[in-house]
This record gives sequence, C-alpha cells and structure tokens, in this order.
Amino acid sequence: MVEILSREMLAENIWQTVVYAPRIAKSAKPGQFIIVRADERGERIPLTIADYDAEKGTVTMVTQALGLSTRKIVSKGVGEHFADVAGPLGRPSDFVHETMEELQRKRFVFVAGGVGTAPVYPQVKWLKEHGVEVDVIIGAKTKDMLIYTEQMRAVASNLYIATDDGSEGFHGLVTALLEKLITEQGKSYDCCVAIGPMIMMKFVTLTAKKFNLPCIVSLNALMVDGTGMCGACRVTIAGKTKFTCVDGPEFNAYDVDFDEAMRRQGMYRTQEQRALAIAREREQGHKCNIGLDK
Ligand code: NAD
Ligand code: FES
Repeated sequence: MVEILSREMLAENIWQTVVYAPRIAKSAKPGQFIIVRADERGERIPLTIADYDAEKGTVTMVTQALGLSTRKIVSKGVGEHFADVAGPLGRPSDFVHETMEELQRKRFVFVAGGVGTAPVYPQVKWLKEHGVEVDVIIGAKTKDMLIYTEQMRAVASNLYIATDDGSEGFHGLVTALLEKLITEQGKSYDCCVAIGPMIMMKFVTLTAKKFNLPCIVSLNALMVDGTGMCGACRVTIAGKTKFTCVDGPEFNAYDVDFDEAMRRQGMYRTQEQRALAIAREREQGHKCNIGLDK
C-alpha cells in the first residue's frame, strides 16, 4: 500500500499527487515513468514522474483525469492509499549517460505542451543540478491551463510561455515561439526535447528539422498498461517496430512515424477507450502484440 501525502488541482482536470514511495524516489531518473493501481481490482495506469525526492522518499505524479481509471486515482484523498505503485520504468533520458563535459557544452531547449509540462520538469531540474543551461518553452491553450510555471522558472535558464489565445506570454503555438527565438532572437541550440500532445511533437520535430536541430520526443501518451504485454504503445521508429513502454518512452524524433502514432492514438481519449480498441484490434488478428511484431 502506498500512502497519498498530498493532492492538488493544478488546472481543470489536472491533478498533482505526492506519494510516499522511497524505493522509487531513490532510483528514479529523468524520463522514467511509474505504474499506479488505485485499488486491488484497479487497472494498471502508467503515469509520468513529475518529481522525486530521494531524501523524503516522495514521488510526484501529475494526472489528467479523463477516464474512469484516472478519475479513480485522483478521487483518493490525502492519507488514503494506492494498492501499489511500480517503478521506475522505461529508459531514462539519454543525457543522463553523457559525460558532464559533453553535457555542459550543449545548449538545450525543452518544449513542453499542456500536461506534458510535468515530465519535462524533472529533466530540466536534473540538468540544472548538473550545471547545464536549459531554455524552456511551455505552451497551453489558455493561462488557466498552464502548469508548473513557477517550478520551471526556478530551474530553467530562460522560461518562455506561449498560450494559444494570448492570455499569457506569446500569442500562438510553441512552434512559432521556438522559430521566433531562433530566427529573431538569435538563439542557437544543440538539442531540442519536446513532450506534449502528439500533434505538437510532430510539428516541433518539423520545426527543429528546418534548423538541423536534433530533437527527442517522449511517446508516453501512447501507453495503456505499461507492461510490454498489451501492444498498445507500438510505434514505428526508423522503420522498425518498437514499444514505447519498454524501448522508450523517449526516441529520436526524426525517426518517429508520427502519422501512424496519431492514427493509433486516434480518437481514444481515455485509458479504457484505448484498452478496448487494442483488444478489438487483437481480436481482429491485427499484429499488435509484443513478440509477434518484434
Ligand atoms: P494542448 O492541446 O493544450 O497543447 C499544448 C500546446 O501544444 C499548445 O498550447 C500548443 O502550443 C502546442 N500545440 C498543439 N497543437 C499544435 C500544433 N498543431 N502545432 C504546434 N504546436 C501545437 O495540450 P493538452 O491538452 O495538455 O494535451 C494533452 C495531450 O498530451 C493528451 O493527449 C496527453 O495524452 C498528451 N500527453 C503527452 C505526454 C507525453 O509524454 N508526450 C505527457 C502528458 C500528456
Ligand atoms: Fe502495453 Fe506498452 S503499454 S505494450
């Protein structure tokens, strides 16, 4: 049983939960995720790690409550318990394997979209702790949907905000702001990391390509059970089948077949709708299983 230490609503339908999970807090690295089961009969829900504190033994997760399972997760109160939290899972961000010398020479720009801002935070925090300069762009539909701006301001070298309606910061999409920083403000970067909705990651990749800027994306949002078993997170990377939960979640953006990933993500907004769609796909004999496709 994993105790819930705090719960806070960050924006409409977006909740932050802090749990006591000392073993995960001790070994978590930027880019990894956890699997939460609200109760004994609950589904396994993969969630990105938004923060971790090895000393306090806490892990922070941010959940967009859209379906039954995610609503169950955010309906539990402080002092209540989740049945279990497994992790850290997935491969850490590539930069954790680079030497400090290499890293500190690099100029990073992170592009965070909507709820995708939460998994960006531990990456930027880690880089800041290791003396690396990082610019961050956060985009949201409106000022009210922005999350983690204060936390990010504390760790980013420069923080740029974009809202679709212009209610805060730059009026427009994150891609337009990225392009403006490069072409009008003379910014130059060695690596771009984009985490957010799939469509955003696709267009950030196209923008990065224009400037020959290497780009990494996180395909977390495709996962259903996070175990490598359901096949839901299958993606084509450089022409090869990969599974986001075991081979990722981060990939070289230039290698990702975004159109296929978006087709598979399709109109299924919730974990349950996606699980159902994947089950139907398997019944119809489509190749979607790990082991069959690999
Ligand atoms: P959103 O729709 O509000 O988009 C966030 C920002 O992305 C926008 O403000 C805009 O600047 C940019 N954007 C959107 N469409 C764009 C386009 N066509 N071109 C360029 N930029 C564009 O974000 P949201 O509502 O928070 O998104 C939720 C989605 O993000 C969910 O589908 C969720 O599954 C996914 N998500 C992804 C991750 C991940 O790891 N990749 C993590 C959490 C959530
Ligand atoms: Fe099920 Fe990856 S989420 S195989």
